[in-house]
Amino acid sequence: MSLPGRPKGASRRAQPEGTPIGPPGRPQGQARRSQPDEAPATAFPVLTLTVNRQRFSAPVPREATLLHVLRNDLGLVGPKYGCGLGACGACTVLIDDRVARACLIPAHGVAGRHVTTLEGLGDRAAPHPVQQAFIDAQAAQCGYCTSGMVLATVALLRRNPGPSDDEAREALQHQLCRCGTHVEILRAVQLAAGRLRDGVERA
Ligand code: FES
Ligand code: FES
Repeated sequence: MSLPGRPKGASRRAQPEGTPIGPPGRPQGQARRSQPDEAPATAFPVLTLTVNRQRFSAPVPREATLLHVLRNDLGLVGPKYGCGLGACGACTVLIDDRVARACLIPAHGVAGRHVTTLEGLGDRAAPHPVQQAFIDAQAAQCGYCTSGMVLATVALLRRNPGPSDDEAREALQHQLCRCGTHVEILRAVQLAAGRLRDGVERA
């Protein structure tokens, strides 16, 4: 995906809130003297949002999508770029616990909201129960859809801890898997649901 340019001197990665964002090497508070023949830097509006329980603040172009900010500015590559049209679900994230397509959402449209990506669920050392269920059920082949499938399953189990297969199919019907791992994915949903019910763990 080609992305809009970045203002001269702006940091590529977003900084945790409170970290001054500006050209490296200049002491904080020291003004930069403008040069008479220098083109003015583009001023992008500052975006502040919470991602995986951490607040970030950075200048972001108005037209940037949430997916662009997550992957390119925050380095969170769980959400994938698939169709870019809202049709495949590879870019799925949770916004305030609801499934959303990050490829379609303007980043500034979710300012101040809570975004969860795959990285916010668990990691290799301590996977989320849904991640562990996908591993145990071998519910991935190429894995391109898996981040979206896992997040959509988390959202499903938060609102319905005991879904039938039909309910799981309906909840995941807009998450496309090109590899045909649907049987294993449904098995993973039931595995996770059972473990969460038994373990009194929240999805
Ligand atoms: S990449 Fe967002 S729905 Fe396909
Ligand atoms: S495992 Fe390849 S797209 Fe689903």
